[in-house]
Amino acid sequence: MKHRVDVLISEADVKARVAALAKEIEQSYGEGEEVLLVGLLRGSVVFLSDLARALNMSAEFDFMTVSSYGSSMHSSRDVKIIKDLDEDIQGRNLLIVEDIIDTGNTLSKVVQVLNTRDPKSIKLCTLLDKPSRREVEVPVDFIGFTIPDEFVVGYGIDWAQKYRNLPHVGIVVPLE
Ligand code: PRP
Ligand code: MN
Ligand code: MG
Repeated sequence: MKHRVDVLISEADVKARVAALAKEIEQSYGEGEEVLLVGLLRGSVVFLSDLARALNMSAEFDFMTVSSYGSSMHSSRDVKIIKDLDEDIQGRNLLIVEDIIDTGNTLSKVVQVLNTRDPKSIKLCTLLDKPSRREVEVPVDFIGFTIPDEFVVGYGIDWAQKYRNLPHVGIVVPLE
């Protein structure tokens, strides 16, 4: 498909929002509390790495891969764990970091699974939220930007694996 990618959220705006989110997140935990950042591969990687460096508190990393979209444009609703966390999360503060919440199927399944392992707390943080697409309610604690139902890429978000490395959030505009 012939297309161009326009800027939806500039690199500077993303950076400023990430810094503000980091402050909100720090303030939501008590003095001396530690957090385990849980990134869902692969989309969360760019946001997680910037957010982690903006956080002024102890933050470890762990990652999991769940299947939902793959290369398709549609959520399968049947979400499976492809790669589990490496860490034992019992008694730990988890902050699940996502690039985007669309239907909510991915996060709701992940939260359901992780809750069975008796963590101390689970909070959710997403850079982008598309509430108009929600099929399952998920309690999101920290949201970078609420966006309309647009075809976004960049800052970790792919279109058939492309555009994850854009430093801004772009919008795909079909041509012809
Ligand atoms: C995308 C995105 C979220 C999920 C959101 O991941 O990164 O993880 O879909 O969709 P949902 O709220 O409808 O479940 P994808 O499955 O494309 O994998 P990726 O992170 O490797 O791109
Ligand atoms: Mn993802
Ligand atoms: Mg994807």
